[in-house]
Amino acid sequence: MSEIERYLDSKLGEDVDRRGFLKLSASAAGLAALAACGGGTVTPGPSGPTGAEFKLGIVLPYSNVYAELGSSITNGIQLYLNKVGNQAGNRKITVFKEDEKVSTDDAVAATKKLVEQTSVDMIAGYVLSPNAVANRDYLTSNKVPTIIANAGANVISRAKKSDFIYRTSFSNWQPTHPMGSYVQDKLGLKNVLLVYANYPAGAETAQSFRETYTGKFAAADVAPPLGYTGDWAVWVSKITAANPDGIYVFLSGTDSVGFLNKANELGALKNIKVTGSGFFVEQDVLGSVGDRAPVGAVSGLHWALTLDTKENKDFVAAYRKAYNKPPDVFAMDGYDTGRVIVDALNAVKGDTKDPTKFLAAIGAVSFKSPRGDFKFDAATHNVINPVYIRELVKDPQLGYTNKVVATVAGVADPGK
Ligand code: PHB
Repeated sequence: MSEIERYLDSKLGEDVDRRGFLKLSASAAGLAALAACGGGTVTPGPSGPTGAEFKLGIVLPYSNVYAELGSSITNGIQLYLNKVGNQAGNRKITVFKEDEKVSTDDAVAATKKLVEQTSVDMIAGYVLSPNAVANRDYLTSNKVPTIIANAGANVISRAKKSDFIYRTSFSNWQPTHPMGSYVQDKLGLKNVLLVYANYPAGAETAQSFRETYTGKFAAADVAPPLGYTGDWAVWVSKITAANPDGIYVFLSGTDSVGFLNKANELGALKNIKVTGSGFFVEQDVLGSVGDRAPVGAVSGLHWALTLDTKENKDFVAAYRKAYNKPPDVFAMDGYDTGRVIVDALNAVKGDTKDPTKFLAAIGAVSFKSPRGDFKFDAATHNVINPVYIRELVKDPQLGYTNKVVATVAGVADPGK
């Protein structure tokens, strides 16, 4: 079995095809989520919602490199909806899922199916930056209220900001912006190598790093293709050849698993400082690489499993109870997405006929989240995030996880 197959098997059970990609149909994902929560359908009774059903369309990857991210976000949304009995504003909330897959064509087809065939009231999801951008004009011209729950494309908070789109996750700029200067000033690195998946989210992360790190780079960036399934030694050996004093990484999902496993096997990270945008060492990846985790890695992200707040501890406990594993940042973003939808529906008392009013209610949602203070930036429709600078440790109770060593509060994308 390949590393990727092992990863997917360990994550999502037996439904893996032998080309190495997860085959999890939307309905199977739904059943799994429901089973994990011990059910989730609301039977409208005397006290149940009496308004029209609210159809929530979800577009997330349930296959390929980011399948685990899609699964975590789905779990997080469902966990919040279950918490409120799958209803808000006197409307029963029903979830309809489509697979984002990887390509923009598939992601646009998934959106169109939900809007034109299922007649959903809103859309939430999108993991890949290019897919959020590819759907943006369609969602806007069809006036579909939308929440982006992962995809970080900066342009969505800038030139392509939309009246119809809010983002609960991050812009690619956000988690990395404080990291460039931290790597240079606090960690003292002088000769860094950038390592990232070769597509817009990787490139924008590298760009954000270059804005605050002004030191030298050891060699040309190491940029494997997104969803790489070849031999990772090809890319890992470039790090060894460049002999940097540290690396800054953007990889996620199976890309990070493949990279970390091979780098560990070849001993490539032994004598260098490992840093990055926190996705490459998030709990989904750590659960898979086990003892191959790069202990000591320093990363920036808007959440950590170990955050010692009531909101986070309650969320982590509820997630573990429902799914029998720790959440990751994607699950947390899903949970907050569920909350934004529910709070906004309650605020308009279930009346979503005027999308402008419903969107204004979405934009006004603010609360204490597992990540810290949650609120949207009216200028960008993007969430303002704390960025936690985290160090990877092996904790006696939690196993491999990230502990917070510094916090940068209120990081807002510079869009205007
Ligand atoms: C993105 O494509 O925007 C993206 C994907 C995976 C991540 C973060 C950002 O972990």
